[in-house]
Amino acid sequence: MTEITIDPTLCSGCGICVRTCPYGILQLTDDADVASVIPERVDFCSHCGHCSAICPDNAITISYEGAGPVPDLSREDIPTAGALSRLMVSRRSIREYQKKPVPQDILSQIFDIIRYAPTGMNGQSVHWLVVQDPKEIRELIGRVIDWARMVVRDQPAHPLAPILPVMITEWEEGRDRICHRAPQIIFASSHKDNPIGFVDAIIALTHLDLAAPVFGLGTCWAGILQIALSSSPELMESIGLPKDFVSHYAMMIGYPATSYPGIPVRNAASVTWR
Ligand SMILES: Cc1cc2nc3c(=O)[nH]c(=O)nc-3n(C[C@H](O)[C@H](O)[C@H](O)COP(=O)(O)O)c2cc1C
Ligand code: SF4
Ligand code: SF4
Repeated sequence: MTEITIDPTLCSGCGICVRTCPYGILQLTDDADVASVIPERVDFCSHCGHCSAICPDNAITISYEGAGPVPDLSREDIPTAGALSRLMVSRRSIREYQKKPVPQDILSQIFDIIRYAPTGMNGQSVHWLVVQDPKEIRELIGRVIDWARMVVRDQPAHPLAPILPVMITEWEEGRDRICHRAPQIIFASSHKDNPIGFVDAIIALTHLDLAAPVFGLGTCWAGILQIALSSSPELMESIGLPKDFVSHYAMMIGYPATSYPGIPVRNAASVTWR
C-alpha cells in the first residue's frame, strides 16, 4: 500500500509538490495553508517520489512495498560535461574478457544505481537475471549454436543466415562469437504482458552499459543471443526467468582483456532543425 504523509508542522504551503505531481494527487485548498493528499486519487500514485524529493521543507514522506533505500550522494559527484562526454564517447563494445568474474557486490552496486533509470509510468518493471555459472553459460551458448544450425539448414532467407555459419564453425573450434566468453551474462526481463516492458529494459540496459566502465568493466549487447531467445520459446524458457517473464535483451559483462586507446569515427549527428 502507498502511504504519502505530509507533516503539517513542516509544510510552508508553497505548493511546489501540487504542481509537480503528474497525477494531481496533492492539493492546497482555500481553507488550508498546508498541502494535503486527495485520498481518492492515491491509487494513481506511480511512486515517482517527486513530491517528496522536491519539497524544500522535507515535509513529505512516501512509502510503498518494495521501495529500496535512497542513495546518499553529494551534488559534487555530478560529472562535468567533459567527464560525461568522455565516458559516453569512449564506451566500447568489449569482445575479449578476462576470465575472472565480476564480484557480485560490484554488480549489486551497479544495479543499485540503474534502478533509477526512467521507466514508463514509473512502473520499475525490469527484473534482472545474472547468469555466472561457466557451465550454464557454455550450455546456453551450445543451445544457441543448435538454433543457429537449424536456421542455416531450414531458413536460408533469415537475415542472420549469412553470418551464422562462421559462428558455428568457430564454436566447433573452441571459440565463442556469440558471447565472447564473457564471464557473466545479464538479462533484462519483464512480464510478457507489460506493454512498455521492452522500452524500460532497453533504457535500463543502456544505463548499465554506461555505468559499467566507471567500475572498470566492459559490456557488449548480446544481439545474436537475444534474437535466438526471441525466436525460440524453448530457448527463452531454458534461461529460467520467473513465470511469464521474457528477456528483452541480454548483455555480456566482465573485465575487459583489451583496451581502446583511440576513439572510432562515427557519422555526424543527423538532425532536422525547425
Ligand atoms: C542492439 C544491439 C545488439 C548488438 N549485438 C551484438 C552482438 O551480438 N555481438 C557483438 O559482438 N556486438 C553486438 N553489438 C555491438 C555493436 O556491434 C556495437 O555497438 C557497434 O559496432 C558500435 O561499437 P561500440 O559499441 O564499441 O561503439 C550490439 C549492439 C546493439 C546496440
Ligand atoms: S512542497 Fe513541501 S512545503 Fe511546499 S506545499 Fe508541498 S509539502 Fe508543503
Ligand atoms: S509520488 Fe509522484 S505520483 Fe505519487 S503523489 Fe508524489 S508526485 Fe504524485
